[in-house]
Amino acid sequence: MSQLRILIPSELLKNRVQELGHEIRKKYGSGSVTCICVLRGALFFAADLVRHIGGDVRLEFIHINNQSDSMGIDISYFSGNIADKDCILIEDIVETGLTLQTIYSYLNNQNPRSLYSVSLLDKPSTRHHSIEIDFIGFSIPDEFVVGYGLDLHGRHRALDYIATYIP
Ligand code: IMP
Repeated sequence: MSQLRILIPSELLKNRVQELGHEIRKKYGSGSVTCICVLRGALFFAADLVRHIGGDVRLEFIHINNQSDSMGIDISYFSGNIADKDCILIEDIVETGLTLQTIYSYLNNQNPRSLYSVSLLDKPSTRHHSIEIDFIGFSIPDEFVVGYGLDLHGRHRALDYIATYIP
């Protein structure tokens, strides 16, 4: 029978998200920051992070459909006009790097003034695409994780911690 094993407990998660928010605010000074949340996985992370970034912070959304490897990644919705704005892309997890790379270049083509990226989780051992992540919450081993927005077939998103899914 499958089970969940806590990998990042709620308190640790909360503290790190707060820290990340302060690090990001420091990078931008008192300027306006446009956050772009990747739906759906980064929703909970983005909601907490933008409040810790604070100040003049805006929130936009981009929705992607992850298809099979051969079909690539389909961007089905983007809410914003980011031309000439200082932006940060908010992702839940980076595995091979393909998703982040695809979204980053899509957004970069819209001529933002600057574009950084933050991912709550990173699996460095599974990286296939060379990308830079400017802010990382936690580096984790190559395990399938759920919780705090991350799902398995739509389940487990609402957990307030990150857990390893053991099939
Ligand atoms: P990448 O394109 O290989 O970097 O994969 C990133 C995407 O795969 C993320 O945005 C998630 O949707 C999904 N993903 C990768 N690893 C996990 C995981 O451990 N749990 C849940 N989703 C994951």
